[in-house]
Amino acid sequence: MSPGSLRIVGLGPGDPRWITPEVATALAEASDLVGYAPYLARLAPRAGQRVHASDNRVELERARLALGLAREGRAVVVVSGGDPGVFAMAAAVFEAVEHGDPAWRALDITVAPGISAMQAAAARLGAPLGHDFCAISLSDNLKPWPLVAKRLRAAAEGDFVIALYNPASRSRAEPIHAAFAILRALKAGATPVVFARAIGRDDESVAITSLAAADPAHADMSTLVIIGSSETRLVERPGTPPFIYTPRGAGGPR
Ligand SMILES: C[S@@+](CC[C@H](N)C(=O)[O-])C[C@H]1O[C@@H](n2cnc3c(N)ncnc32)[C@H](O)[C@@H]1O
Repeated sequence: MSPGSLRIVGLGPGDPRWITPEVATALAEASDLVGYAPYLARLAPRAGQRVHASDNRVELERARLALGLAREGRAVVVVSGGDPGVFAMAAAVFEAVEHGDPAWRALDITVAPGISAMQAAAARLGAPLGHDFCAISLSDNLKPWPLVAKRLRAAAEGDFVIALYNPASRSRAEPIHAAFAILRALKAGATPVVFARAIGRDDESVAITSLAAADPAHADMSTLVIIGSSETRLVERPGTPPFIYTPRGAGGPR
């Protein structure tokens, strides 16, 4: 890696086999690893690598630290879980670049993609994202709840499959209940719902239910919730969980 560089990488949802070779190379060549502490804890830094762990809520400070280190000539890697461009550090770094030291714009900055939680969860289930879908974060740390509610209504109105990120945290239990209330008013009760928790980790679990029967309290900060479209269906199988898929074409079998 060249000196004075910044690589923004995604570690995937948890299974180390889902770290791409590009990301593994960037991690091996870095002089400095920057990220949220639990993501950095998934790595085994080599001798001489500096590790800069920080708390969850300090994305912009973390981005500025990484840019400052790169400006000093360090080979910096910023890590995110999943994909770095999906509710993660890539946008924070570019926000810092836009509003920060003009010299940061000349740095060698690249983004290395990772597998996002919705892709990993979808692969476990079958193909629930097989047709039009959207991803919505329920975190209202960085946006007001009325905007979240408006987007949920629009997604239901558009009959998208919906991947809900950040459905709950220790301090935020309410949004997922409010989200289900909105969706239940607009979508059929039989709509498939999945709580995909800790996908790719040792404590992985998947619960398949329906919009009417789902208990929103099932979701925690390690859960991705998938709400089907009107086309999403289950393929039942004897003695094993069903496949879930959304057909490639709307309006019935081809
Ligand atoms: C701040 S967002 C980061 C998303 C990440 N950049 C990605 O692309 O998956 C964190 C949220 O992603 C989801 N998530 C991350 N890892 C997960 C996993 N292994 N299983 C299920 N959901 C996960 C959860 O909804 C969690 O609250």
